[in-house]
Amino acid sequence: MPMFPRRAFVGTLVCLCTLSALPSCSSSGSDRKRHAGTPDDPYVIGMSQCNLGEPWRVQMNADIKRATSPYPNIKIIFKDAQNDSLTQRAHVEELVAQGIDLLVISPKEAAPLTQPVADAYKKGIPVIVLDRAVQGEEYTVFIGADNKKIGREAGKWAVKALGGKGKIVELKGLMTSTPGQDRNAGFREGLDLANNKDIQVVFEADMAWLEPNARKEMASALATQSDIQLVYAHNDPGAHGAYLAAKEADKHGAMKFIGIDALPHEGIRYVKDGILDATFAYPTGGAEAIETAIKILQGEKVEKKITLGTRIYTKENVAKGGEEIK
Ligand code: FRU
Repeated sequence: MPMFPRRAFVGTLVCLCTLSALPSCSSSGSDRKRHAGTPDDPYVIGMSQCNLGEPWRVQMNADIKRATSPYPNIKIIFKDAQNDSLTQRAHVEELVAQGIDLLVISPKEAAPLTQPVADAYKKGIPVIVLDRAVQGEEYTVFIGADNKKIGREAGKWAVKALGGKGKIVELKGLMTSTPGQDRNAGFREGLDLANNKDIQVVFEADMAWLEPNARKEMASALATQSDIQLVYAHNDPGAHGAYLAAKEADKHGAMKFIGIDALPHEGIRYVKDGILDATFAYPTGGAEAIETAIKILQGEKVEKKITLGTRIYTKENVAKGGEEIK
């Protein structure tokens, strides 16, 4: 289910006809042979996903599939790198060698995926980078939510929830990926520790986006720190892992837990069940990627960066669908 109202595909049929009528041409002046973009010779989009072990990424692929289903003249080849940057690199090279018309990539880490993305782009293949960024500018468009802003809002929310005083644990996403870096930097801005001197981050660790790691790190935090009052995890699986560790130590009742993603069947459910106190929506961008891919394949110009919105869900607002963050 799309989490935000977005611009609908106006006139799907018209769009389909226009797409089908597009001549087979080479892009960016390269001699690369493109598919005609007809149901008999559909455009081929390669989708390089960094892993499918997390519900959020399964949702991203489902969003892409659903957005593509009205278009018989588009075919998607999905690759799952199983959380390994070298495998993902090989997948990108493989897709390029196969002669795709456009690449969508949600990279595991910025540095190791920068070169293969740039190589594809320089060969004239349009590249849409989704959710996690690469370094530099050698791609067509980046689509994702503003992680710094989400982190900042989480920090402000934490200060308020603690009444300006208390001990915090921060469980970070993979710090070699841009959302981890931005959610951390934004959070620290939002905490404004220089002016909120009674707030302390007493424990921080990289849990690499994974619930079992978060659970282990939280157990260490509990073993070394007393009176933890709030846990900020960079995603909902991390917040849930921390909650489980605290519950095991029977300390969960004295703590607040904040996560990010807000999938209906994950983070939003946790808020409804009283497990998390707040979660921030992090849209997958899957539908927007296909909408943008269609524009590119039709020869339209697109913005270099498309920023998606966010919402906050708490026990006060979850029943009415959360609240948009402007
Ligand atoms: C899934 C995930 C999400 C997170 C996003 C950041 O792999 O960890 O939980 O919001 O990646 O890129």
